[in-house]
Amino acid sequence: MSPPTGTGDTRHDVQSTFEAVFGGRPDLLIRAPGRVNLIGEHTDYNDGFVFPAAIDRELWLALRPRTDERVALHSLDFGAGEFSLGGLSPGDDGWIGYLKGVAWVLTEKGHRLTGWDGVVGSDIPIGAGLSSSAALEMATLCAFAAVSGIPWEPREAALLGQRVENQWMDVQSGIMDQLAVGLGRRDHALLIDCRTLDVRPVPLPAGLTLVVLDTGTRRGLVDSAYNERRQQCETAARACGVPALRDVDLAGLESVGGLEPTVRRRARHVVSENGRTLEAAGALRSGDLDHLGHLMNASHASLRDDFEVSTEALDVIVDLALRQPGCVGARMTGAGFGGCALAIVEESRAAGLARRVGEAYHDALGIQAEAYVCGAADGVGVLDVS
Ligand code: GLA
Repeated sequence: MSPPTGTGDTRHDVQSTFEAVFGGRPDLLIRAPGRVNLIGEHTDYNDGFVFPAAIDRELWLALRPRTDERVALHSLDFGAGEFSLGGLSPGDDGWIGYLKGVAWVLTEKGHRLTGWDGVVGSDIPIGAGLSSSAALEMATLCAFAAVSGIPWEPREAALLGQRVENQWMDVQSGIMDQLAVGLGRRDHALLIDCRTLDVRPVPLPAGLTLVVLDTGTRRGLVDSAYNERRQQCETAARACGVPALRDVDLAGLESVGGLEPTVRRRARHVVSENGRTLEAAGALRSGDLDHLGHLMNASHASLRDDFEVSTEALDVIVDLALRQPGCVGARMTGAGFGGCALAIVEESRAAGLARRVGEAYHDALGIQAEAYVCGAADGVGVLDVS
């Protein structure tokens, strides 16, 4: 039987497709959110501070354990795939590589895994910097934990998800995305210390909303540019004689001689961004929205000028958002090189802002932008639907 066509309700589509493809109902349903980052960009792999929120764009995975060691999958976006839990090795697997990578890290940890049949679907845009891959990793970790009797520890799972990126996918990313997907809390942003993995939820004031502005642009070679930025930060930390840039302040950085100018600018972004992130969490707590907006704008400028991960499309969309009434602050969010910006906006003005920014952006660049008005959501979780 061919899978039913989409209804726009991903949770429902995933469940009905499961019944159509595998026959019978799934036992478990897992929900994993995407994330935006309010501020604290490219600081996580420098042992620094980040301030993300999980969002209500989400991935759903319906599954039922099998009696053998195979995983059979159907993706609403990418079609069918299957793999065996024995003898896993990295390959050019596309989306299914994330699931194989998760099975591999768990097997390496000594867990004996049970296979399952599953259907996955998501309304997190792919490659847009909203952590669609971290959502897939965390949902898969949750699935294996549930069917194989592994206790669920979100921090431990986040570290394993990061290991999938670093060692299986060869992307040297930090820990922010998996922690945000794992530990998100409804109506809160999370102030995370990426050295200690301490996570402090900070309430988002009522009446404000998160408007994610997708530039519609994606740049190739993001992974190699990302890995290069990480290496430059490590070079700077070594020159400063510290384990990570987290341990340097701006005066300390100034006093270090012999740094190549580009490397110095990369480090200046990270050191200043750590300070802005802590200040932004304080500003949100105390309701000082002017200061929060100012810090977001300064973050964007630093990512554009010192870290050089913004693009014309991101600069244009941020600038347009800032001109709109009710916009508290705006900046690029995620790794950069295309993808999305985030504007924090008065709720009553969000729809108007999204419409006007979309029109003006199209006039300026001839590209269709998308806007997602989001709430801050809970982290990954499992529902028993048997
Ligand atoms: C990507 C990575 C994160 C983080 C951000 C930039 O999302 O996966 O670890 O480094 O870029 O802040």
